[in-house]
Amino acid sequence: MHHLWIVWTFGTLTLQVCCTGTEYDGGNILEITPESEKQVQCLQNILQSWLLDLLKPLQPEDINVKTTVHVRIPSTALQLVKEDLLHCSQSLEILTGNVKYIEEDKIDTKETRKTINEYNYTTYHPMNEIYDWINGIAKKHSQFVTQHLLGLTYESRPMQYLKISQPSENHKKIVWIDCGIHAREWIAPAFCQWFVKEIVQNYQNDQRIRKILQNLDIYVLPVLNIDGYIYSWTKERLWRKNRSQYGNGTCYGVDLNRNFNVSWCTHRSSTNCSSNSFCGSSPVSEPETRAVVEFVESRKADIVCFLTMHSYSQLILTAYGYSTGLSRNYNEIFKVAEMAASAMEKIHGTKYRAGPFSKLLYEASGTSQDWVHDLGIDFSFTFELRDNGSHKFTLPEDQIQPTCEETMAGVMTIIEYVNEKY
Ligand code: ARG
Ligand code: ZN
Repeated sequence: MHHLWIVWTFGTLTLQVCCTGTEYDGGNILEITPESEKQVQCLQNILQSWLLDLLKPLQPEDINVKTTVHVRIPSTALQLVKEDLLHCSQSLEILTGNVKYIEEDKIDTKETRKTINEYNYTTYHPMNEIYDWINGIAKKHSQFVTQHLLGLTYESRPMQYLKISQPSENHKKIVWIDCGIHAREWIAPAFCQWFVKEIVQNYQNDQRIRKILQNLDIYVLPVLNIDGYIYSWTKERLWRKNRSQYGNGTCYGVDLNRNFNVSWCTHRSSTNCSSNSFCGSSPVSEPETRAVVEFVESRKADIVCFLTMHSYSQLILTAYGYSTGLSRNYNEIFKVAEMAASAMEKIHGTKYRAGPFSKLLYEASGTSQDWVHDLGIDFSFTFELRDNGSHKFTLPEDQIQPTCEETMAGVMTIIEYVNEKY
């Protein structure tokens, strides 16, 4: 089978999206730089008539000659929109300078296979290695792991997630797992990678996994806050937020886990962008938050479980963060969290506590877990992984494996529960 791949280059990063997907895949992102007033107007008309999702700049009115425009186009409309774009210019190249087509066969697969087999899951990895890992794992296990684009970060990096899906005619429900919404919590992305590794390694022979994958697809976003993660590797190890610019470049970063539209900016949030808990200029002001929100909203009828991974404190947290009130179905949700905590303790004896976010951690508004819960998805949990405060965010690498092993047990307990229920 021949697949056509579209390759977009953003700076030094190359993003590959297969253009033949029919189901929701986050769409395709086109980078366009108009070269004349006429092209600006033509482009603005197309954006308006197609109601396209403009990622950059904010409004069609903000587009000028030489403005770099990022626009998301649903896969199903790509061909038609491209034809329209052609009318804006004698040649597509002028308008879409960064788009080129290549055939899948020409993308070297041998190199990726080699590195993916030698990937070390017990060290932390910089973002470029994680990107390679995402590509590699999807290539190696292409029969049931595929990579998709969720959106772009503030600094225009592709947010890629992996969809683990056993081919079948069944209509499947969805389990969502994201890692690394807070940049410095490096154990979280390490866990997301561990999780995918465990599934692809064991699903042939592990009846537990096969049973889950009969009814559920698992979507894994290995690093949500990519710009922040890179910053924590290159500039400031304890950086927490994303890297969006505020106050004319006087301060940077929104706490993405205060930016969701749920009781926004009321508890343990700041309106000062220098604060580590800056809630943003408005609910969902950040592209990273928006990408998650759009996905969850578009698939909310199918999502049965939402897990967001953090560190540290060894907790499994339920709604709510924004209030001390008890959530809908609290008894059942708490029971599941406790089951997960005891499954985790069985592996290496590490104690995890279960309970409401506001009670076990602190009151905090605008968290993804609460927003998802109030959207109607009961089983929405925040995991705070190791440790208990000795190393805090700089968990030593020799704890990656035991942390991931115990967390795997907790996550599987929750997934098995929702699989029985739905
Ligand atoms: N990951 C947590 C957060 O989302 C920080 C947990 C740190 N633990 C603590 N006791 N402060 O804010
Ligand atoms: Zn966190």
